Formats: sequence, C-alpha cells, structure tokens
Amino acid sequence: MTVTIVGSQLGDEGKGGVVDLYGDAADVVARYQGGDNAGHTVVYDGDKYKLSLVPSGAVRGKVGILGNGCVVNPETLFEEIDTLRERGLDPDIRVAERAHTILPYHRVLDGIEEDEKEDLAAGTTKRGIGPTYEDKMGRRGIRIGDLLDPEVLRERLEYVVPQKKALAEDVFGKETGEAFDIEHLYETYKDYGERLAEEGMTVDAGTYLQDRIDEGDNVMLEGAQGTSIDIDHGIYPYVTSSNPTAGGACVGSGLGPTVVGQGEVIGVVKAYLSRVGTGPLPTELGGVEGQTPEYTGDGAGDEDEEELATYIRDEGGEYGTVTGRPRRVGWLDMPMLRHAARASGFTGLAINHIDVLAGLDEVEVGHAYEFEGEELLTMPPTTEKWGRCEATFRSFDGWPEVDWADVAEDGYEAIPENARTYLEYVADELGAPIYAVGVGPGREETIVLENPYDGE
Ligand code: GDP
Ligand code: IMO
Ligand code: MG
Repeated sequence: MTVTIVGSQLGDEGKGGVVDLYGDAADVVARYQGGDNAGHTVVYDGDKYKLSLVPSGAVRGKVGILGNGCVVNPETLFEEIDTLRERGLDPDIRVAERAHTILPYHRVLDGIEEDEKEDLAAGTTKRGIGPTYEDKMGRRGIRIGDLLDPEVLRERLEYVVPQKKALAEDVFGKETGEAFDIEHLYETYKDYGERLAEEGMTVDAGTYLQDRIDEGDNVMLEGAQGTSIDIDHGIYPYVTSSNPTAGGACVGSGLGPTVVGQGEVIGVVKAYLSRVGTGPLPTELGGVEGQTPEYTGDGAGDEDEEELATYIRDEGGEYGTVTGRPRRVGWLDMPMLRHAARASGFTGLAINHIDVLAGLDEVEVGHAYEFEGEELLTMPPTTEKWGRCEATFRSFDGWPEVDWADVAEDGYEAIPENARTYLEYVADELGAPIYAVGVGPGREETIVLENPYDGE
C-alpha cells in the first residue's frame, strides 16, 4: 500500500519527522515533487539529519526514489549522498529518468527574476526550482535520462542555452559566465550522467514503484513544501512551482490515483503557522523585515505580538533549514487547514510542535475569516482576496510546560488536557483523525495513535 505525507500549511510542518516516524514499515520512500528547495529534518537518537533532496527515508536505510515530478540538481544530490556516507549510512537513491535537471543557469535566473519582481517576489530559495519547472512545461527542459546520452544532452543544450543567455543578457541586462556556457555545461553534466549510470542510480520510477507494490511492499510518498505554497492551490504567485498536494503524488510518482487513493494521505500540521517567504498571512504575529508585506518593524502598538512572535520563533527554532532566514510566525489558520484537508483528502493527521506553545496563558486560533462582511470557513481563491481577510479568533486555555519525554512515553492521555482540547478541535474541524502528535523534534518524542501501515 501507499502512505502519502503532505504538508498542510506553508512548509516546514515536520514532514521529514513524520516520514521517519512511520518509515520503519515502508520499504521504499519516494519524493514526488520539488527539489533542493526542501529542508527536511530527521532527529533520531540525538543525531540530526538535514535533507534537501534525498528522501528522508534514507536515514532508516530505505530505498529512496526521486520521482518524475521532482527537479534534481545532481550537484546537491551527490553532495548529500556523500555526506550521508561520511556519516556511516549507505543511501540507496534512484532518480527517475523522467525527472527534470536543474542546471546552473536556472539558479542564476531564479535570483535575477526574484530581484526584478519586487513586490511579486516569492522570496524563493534561489535553487532554480521555478525556472526548471518553466522549462519542463515549455518543453525545453533537460531530463535526467538525457544526461545518460551525450548526443541528446548536447542537442538539448545547444537549443536551450542560447535562449537562456539572451534572456539574462538582453532582457535582464546581466553579464553571464560559465553557467551559460554550452561546453562547460556539457562536460559537467555528461560527468554527472556517467556517475548516475555507474552507480546504477536511474530508474523508470512509476514502473519500479508499481512493481514493488505488486510484490507486497509498502511505499511512502514524501511531499515537500505545503498546500498553501502549491502552484495551483496556494497563494499564487507567492508559491513554489510544483504540486505538494496529494494529486501531485500520483502525477509525480507515476502511480495511478486509484493506487494512491487506496492508501492513506496524512496531513502534517504544525500547531501554529510558520512561513519563510512573502505574501499575506492573516494570522501573522509581529512580522519579519523583507518578508512581511509593508512591515515597518516599529511595533505600531503591537509590541506584545512582536514579543510573542519572537518567543515562538525561538522556542520552535523557526529559522529556514535551507536559507537560515527567520521564519514569520502566526496562530493556526483553520480556513487554510480546511482548504488543505479538502484539496488532498486527508485520511489522518500528524499534529506537531504542541510543546512549542506550552507555557502560554492562552493559545489563539484563526477559526474563520471575515471578508466583506461575510464569514469564510475556507481560503478564497485569489491571494488578493486572502490578503483582505481578517481572521476571527477562538481562544484556548494554554497548557503547561511538562516533561515531554515522559508524555511521549506515557501516551496520548498524558498530554495536558488543554492541549488535547486544542488537538481535538483541529481534528473535529478537519474531519480527520489524529494519527500522531509531535511533542519534540526526535523520533521518540512523538505519540503514535495510529500507524497507517497497520490494518492493511
Ligand atoms: P519539514 O520541511 O516539513 O520536514 O520540516 P522542517 O524539518 O523544515 O522543520 C521542522 C522543524 O521542527 C525541524 O527542526 C524538526 O526537527 C522540528 N520538529 C518536528 N516536529 C516537532 C515537534 O513536534 N516539536 C518540536 N519542538 N520540533 C519539531
Ligand atoms: P519544505 O519541504 C518552506 C517557499 C520559499 C518561497 C516559495 C518559492 O522544507 O517544507 P522556491 O525556491 O520553491 O521557488 O520558493 O516557496 N518554500 C518553502 N518554504 N518550506 C519549504 O520546503 C519550502 N520550499 C520552498 O520560501 O516563498
Ligand atoms: Mg523544511
């Protein structure tokens, strides 16, 4: 069977930890979208692993697949694999021949366009994600399979590189270097192709995954990013260029919707909001220079909010895994979660970070929005309308700081009562049961109520 792990907010909900938590029962872990813009953290036995591209299942020694829906920077891929090897792991990673390749000019153009866009900039990770997906859709991309055939590689480069060079130089007025040099790119990427071939790392991912399922193996589909930064369902244009939602798990892995749909889809929820990037955020507390629109930083009568935001940011370690940027923080946004639960059809929830909110007198939740005199329970379809939504809040009594390691050992009933009230409110509103509750970053700091691979 399959279990799909989907971020239900704006990324960084703790997906890597949930993949690791349930990873024991999985035989194969496949990513279906995104690239090295992701930053997934696995903490096990005091060791911390930060992965951008390699599926988080690698920490448990599972076969890792980068599906056709991914965009792959071979340089990052090999760096990560080498680092894991240095740490004593032996990752078995296979890359879909249909996946697209991130080239150096994609990264350069990502940076150039972000600067150019000003208010429309998403605050990207500058890893070249958007420009690579653009080329995929424009039918001028270079796929991983193309790296294995030098003739095809050269032909593709000769077509596309002059266009990219002209774009950078003539449209944006920038000087270009070796990132736009056909010979340099050909030699470098031909070598990557050779290494991929030598290490037997390429695969027809959909066929491989289906064969494993037919043999009775368990597949986990690991989403990156989150629903509200999905290219279709997110806060366009402040989004990433792929589909983190569960539909993406079919298209991006090569498994049919009937296969993925027979399995489980777990929505990963952070007990509050965090966001690295720009765009509106109705339940935001305080703000962050350079990311919060029209942020003045003078407190403007909201010193308490700023203080609370700083507190949560520090308690939760809310600094970008990939870029180190301070993340914006806010209260839980229920319309955003209802939208996510519908878009992906969650069958279960993993709610993380309730330990971070411990010790607050009260915890607020954006239960609904007020928009032009009406109550909205879900997100409006345009970001401009979303920006005009005012959150209407519900208040929950806070819960105390406790020894979370003990709680994790003792189980769900050991969670402070007020925190359980909060969790059950979320589950009721979303109509999906709680499968796991995160009370700390470690594998052992999670309370498991349900293992999706049980009862197949
Ligand atoms: P991902 O991108 O969704 O995989 O999440 P990230 O790894 O980028 O960010 C989540 C961060 O929160 C990581 O540092 C995790 O180790 C940490 N984390 C995950 N679950 C919990 C939790 O329940 N409590 C706390 N305090 N930290 C958590
Ligand atoms: P994980 O998998 C949080 C955000 C960027 C930016 C927008 C577009 O760790 O949850 P991109 O580089 O993808 O073109 O940037 O998306 N973003 C993420 N935010 N977590 C992520 O991944 C993200 N990946 C991209 O900050 O606003
Ligand atoms: Mg992350």
